Amino acid sequence: MGAKILSIAAHVPEKIMTNKDFEKIVDTSDEWITTRTGIKERHIAGENEFTSTLATEAAKKALERANVDPKELDMIVVASATHDYWFPATACIVQANIGAENAACFDVEAACPGFVYVLEIGRGLLSLPNYNKILVIGAETLTKITDYTDRTTCVLFGDGAGAAVLEKSEEDHFLGSYLKGNGKLGDLLILPACGTRKRCSEEVVKNHEHYLKMQGREVFKHAVVGMQEAALKALENAGIKPSEVDWLVAHQANKRIIDATRERLGLPEEKVYINIDKYGNTSSASIPIALNEMYEKGLLKRGQILVLDAFGAGFIYGAIVIRW
Ligand code: ACO
Repeated sequence: MGAKILSIAAHVPEKIMTNKDFEKIVDTSDEWITTRTGIKERHIAGENEFTSTLATEAAKKALERANVDPKELDMIVVASATHDYWFPATACIVQANIGAENAACFDVEAACPGFVYVLEIGRGLLSLPNYNKILVIGAETLTKITDYTDRTTCVLFGDGAGAAVLEKSEEDHFLGSYLKGNGKLGDLLILPACGTRKRCSEEVVKNHEHYLKMQGREVFKHAVVGMQEAALKALENAGIKPSEVDWLVAHQANKRIIDATRERLGLPEEKVYINIDKYGNTSSASIPIALNEMYEKGLLKRGQILVLDAFGAGFIYGAIVIRW
């Protein structure tokens, strides 16, 4: 038995911050942000919007599109680097919000590749006899851990969530994957405090150590290599040639990284979906937000071959090849 994706959906907060808005708070320009990243604007969660709020809205829409009752779900898995709490898991908050009373639930911290990871986990669980329908979610409120005095990071991130309902299926739509980690380089992209190693304190807050820190140039170099490796190996594992790919849907961290991946695969521009201009980097939510837009625009057709490819904090990276 295999698995397939029954539906995709997404939800983003209403509030938008443009590059021009950033010109008023840090020493930056629309021109710098656009040429270096491809970002023009991003959605920002309000005071009372949390990762679980966005995840819940995306989940409700995905269930409706799949015509699946929440009570039919066996498992809910939420990928996030910005969970509501250390515990309970954000997946459990979503479970209560949507009334999925028969589901088990847990969270996965796999940074930006989180959605690729939960798809792999969901696919694996569906190979077991007691799982038939699983809800997987990538959801983030990265702007709540962003330092708005640091121009090198604050212009990059946005908030949002995407969800997919997976179902056991005779024909397997999960064709191949490749996931990898390189923990030696973890310090290059890190939230240094408010974990058990360095607990939250006035000192920590004063030094802004409760915000994410990134050495962007270094991360960039590794992201280019990792995304290319992941896509090529996943395709090899799937027995699919790059020329057979209909869509490359990559993590939207930087347009230049996506362009480099596309070139390495030898794909034309029209086979790559890019929406970083509207959302910025939404970490684990970026791939499902992109898939949702493609679905709503009628670009996704059943039978198409998709490569989902991502890189992020850890470092971890990975790609998954699916038949839509
Ligand atoms: N506005 C204006 N100037 C800026 C800004 C800004 N917002 N930010 C940095 N600069 C300056 C720097 O200070 C530097 O100035 P200097 O040359 O005088 O020192 C100059 O611009 C160039 O800085 P770089 O960091 O070399 O710029 P780069 O071209 O590398 O772009 C960026 C920076 C966009 C962060 C890029 O490196 C990147 O996208 N990195 C990868 C991000 C990523 O993929 N993250 C992984 C996923 S995130 C996750 O897991 C949560």
